[in-house]
Amino acid sequence: MTDTRQTSDLFKPVQIGAIQLKNRIAMAPLTRSRAQAGDIPSELAPEYYAQRSGAGLIIAEATQISPQGKGYAFTPGIYNDAQVAGWKKVTDAVHAKGSRIFLQLWHVGRISHPELQPDGALPVAPSAIKPEGNAFTETGFKPFVTPRALELSELPGIVEQYRTAAQLAIRAGFDGVEIHAANGYLLDQFLRDKTNQRNDAYGGSIENRARLLLEVVQAVTSVIPSERVGIRLSPTSPANDIADSNPQALFSYVVEQLNAYKLVYLHVVEGATGGPREVAGGFDLQVLRNLFKGIYIANNGYDLDLAAKARSSNLADLVAFGRPWIANPDLVERLQKGAELANFNPDTLYGGGAKGYTDYPALHAG
Ligand code: PHB
Repeated sequence: MTDTRQTSDLFKPVQIGAIQLKNRIAMAPLTRSRAQAGDIPSELAPEYYAQRSGAGLIIAEATQISPQGKGYAFTPGIYNDAQVAGWKKVTDAVHAKGSRIFLQLWHVGRISHPELQPDGALPVAPSAIKPEGNAFTETGFKPFVTPRALELSELPGIVEQYRTAAQLAIRAGFDGVEIHAANGYLLDQFLRDKTNQRNDAYGGSIENRARLLLEVVQAVTSVIPSERVGIRLSPTSPANDIADSNPQALFSYVVEQLNAYKLVYLHVVEGATGGPREVAGGFDLQVLRNLFKGIYIANNGYDLDLAAKARSSNLADLVAFGRPWIANPDLVERLQKGAELANFNPDTLYGGGAKGYTDYPALHAG
């Protein structure tokens, strides 16, 4: 154990694309639902992220690229100047502590509710197929509804929203962006044949189902350098009622196509999002790691031993921890010292203020 900690290069600097990271441990995006009116990041967000800037790379919480892209109460946006100003305070606070921060660009598609949509509209999706489960609205959990299938003519507008959001993220001081194509949200809904039953150029074959994602990647890399653009996929996750008849073929194709854009990293949720790392179906994620020509960030259910092993066996370049960051703002220091990790309070995960957000102490508080 001690040897693993002391010798692991997890704790050593690494260059990814244009930027240097102080270590190979990332903070995965975590929805905390504390945004202010106007979907502006919380006044407490600069402190929250600064407290966690022991991470080599912070990937800030999923952030909607448009009002339509919103699917949970109190999540922040990145589509207007007030939001840019709010995020600028976050990136300044993180940079002052020597860390780096990307913004995760999000459109939830059907994982929303009319109460969260402009003018109470139906959420949109590749096809009008209702997900199982509930949406988190300002008035509580509400069953998902049958979404409206997007018109072909609407897709270029969504691609433009990603392009603009990427530009705004850079203006807000982010070191880069992560395109959220995981966890059953809009881009993942297009990829999978359970949720995409379109008959046009965006449905049917794997090539067609990957088209929207690749157009988004093209648009984002047309306005910011590709070495500042990463992407997140969750090939084996059933999150948000998603599935595909042949994920290995689908995601191998996607990753091969992504190589043309020279993205800085591929961030993979291994196993079931927020659940077990082991999933049925015999999918080999290392195939994707080997296909991808950039940095591979592994995520989901890692502890120190698993992370150190991922490095010593070269199964990943960086390891992203998610939930452990919530109650352990100094997670990297604790891992390095072998200190015990605190558990978070599930009641304060989403919504509210400082309690359960900025009040988890570091080991050496004060
Ligand atoms: C969540 O709020 O539970 C959530 C948000 C984004 C994800 C996954 C889960 O990618």
